[in-house]
Amino acid sequence: MKRNGSNPKCRREEGAVPSLQSGGSTFAFTHSRNRSGIIVGDALRVLRELPESSFRCCITSPPYWGVRDYGVCDQIGAEMDLDHYIDHLTAVFREVRRVLTNDGSFWLNIGDVYTSGNRGWRDSDKKNPARGMSYRPPTPTGLKPKDLVGVPWRLAFALQQDGWYLRSDIVWYKPNCQPESVKDRPTRSHEYVFLLTKSEDYYYDFEAMREPSLTNGNTRNRRTVWSVNTEPFPEAHFATFPPSLIEPMVSAATSVGDCVLDPFLGSGTVGVVCQRAGRDFVGIELKPEYAEIALYRLGWKDLRHEFKRGSTRPTAEPPDLSLLTDAVPAQPIPTRRTEANRRS
Ligand SMILES: C[S@@+](CC[C@H](N)C(=O)[O-])C[C@H]1O[C@@H](n2cnc3c(N)ncnc32)[C@H](O)[C@@H]1O
Repeated sequence: MKRNGSNPKCRREEGAVPSLQSGGSTFAFTHSRNRSGIIVGDALRVLRELPESSFRCCITSPPYWGVRDYGVCDQIGAEMDLDHYIDHLTAVFREVRRVLTNDGSFWLNIGDVYTSGNRGWRDSDKKNPARGMSYRPPTPTGLKPKDLVGVPWRLAFALQQDGWYLRSDIVWYKPNCQPESVKDRPTRSHEYVFLLTKSEDYYYDFEAMREPSLTNGNTRNRRTVWSVNTEPFPEAHFATFPPSLIEPMVSAATSVGDCVLDPFLGSGTVGVVCQRAGRDFVGIELKPEYAEIALYRLGWKDLRHEFKRGSTRPTAEPPDLSLLTDAVPAQPIPTRRTEANRRS
C-alpha cells in the first residue's frame, strides 16, 4: 500500500511524518518584492526559519485528509492515520502562532471527509485524473464505515488544546456545491472557516466586517454563515479559494501595510487578494508548479529569480528573511478591540 500519496518514492513507515524531523533549509525563494514573497518548500521547515511576530494575520486552507494527491514528497494530507494528520497540522500551526504578532489572527478553512469503510482504493476521476488520491486511508479507530469523520472540529479542538483561542466557527455555504450521488444523506454544501487568535485581545476591524441588514436599509455585524460560490480555476487541479471568501478576512484582520501569511499558498489566491488590498504577504507552497501559477496570477512571472520547474532545492541565494522583521512593529500595535468582541 502506498504510504504517502501515490508517489512510490515518498513511501515511508506508517505514521512517520518526515516533515516533523528537522531538516535543512531546502527551500527556494521564488520572488520577493518589498516584504511580499513566495517560498517553495515544506510549510513546517520554512516556518521554522521565519522570525517570530512577523505577520498580523494568517489565512490558509491546508490539504484535506486523504482527498487529493499533490504528487510531491512531504505533502500533508497523505498521512494514513488521522491522528498523525492532526498532529502534523497542529505542529505547522504552532509555528504559525509563533510568527504571528501578539494581536494577530488565524483564519483556517478546512473541510470534512467520510470514512472509506476500509476500502483501500478510490476510483480515478476520469475528467481530472490529477484530482483524487488513488487510495483511501483506513477507517480511524472508533469510527465505522460511512461515518463523517469530523476533521474540522477534531483539528479545532487540537488547536485550542495547543494554546489557540477558538473565537468563531464560520460556515462557508457553497450554493453551487458539487452534486453527490448519495441517496441516504443530504448533499454536503459547506465547509468551515475557524477564526483562531494568539491572545484574548486581537486586531479586528469590526466596521470592515459589517454586512447589509435584511430587515432595514442599515448594516449589521456579519453573521457566521457566509454564502460564497466556488469559482473554478482551470489551471489548478485543486480547490482554490474564491477571492470574495478571503476579502472580508483581509479587511477585518489587517490594515494597509500589514503582512499576511499563507503557508499552503496553492495558486496564490490569498496573495492576489492582499495585493489588491495593499497588504504584503508571504506564501509557502511545496509544489513548484503551483508556486509558478501563483507567480503568473500575481504578475510576477517576469520578475522572478531563477526558479527551476520541478525542483525544491534552493535555486537562488537563500531568502533575506530579515526583510520580514520590517513587518514587526517597533511597538505593539494598539488593539482595536471593539464593543462587539468585548461583549462576546
Ligand atoms: C487546498 S490547496 C490550497 C489552495 C489555495 N488556497 C488556493 O486558493 O489556491 C493546499 C496546498 O497545500 C500544498 N501543500 C501540501 N503539502 C504541503 C506542505 N507540506 N508544505 C507546503 N505546502 C503544502 C499543496 O501543494 C496545495 O497547493
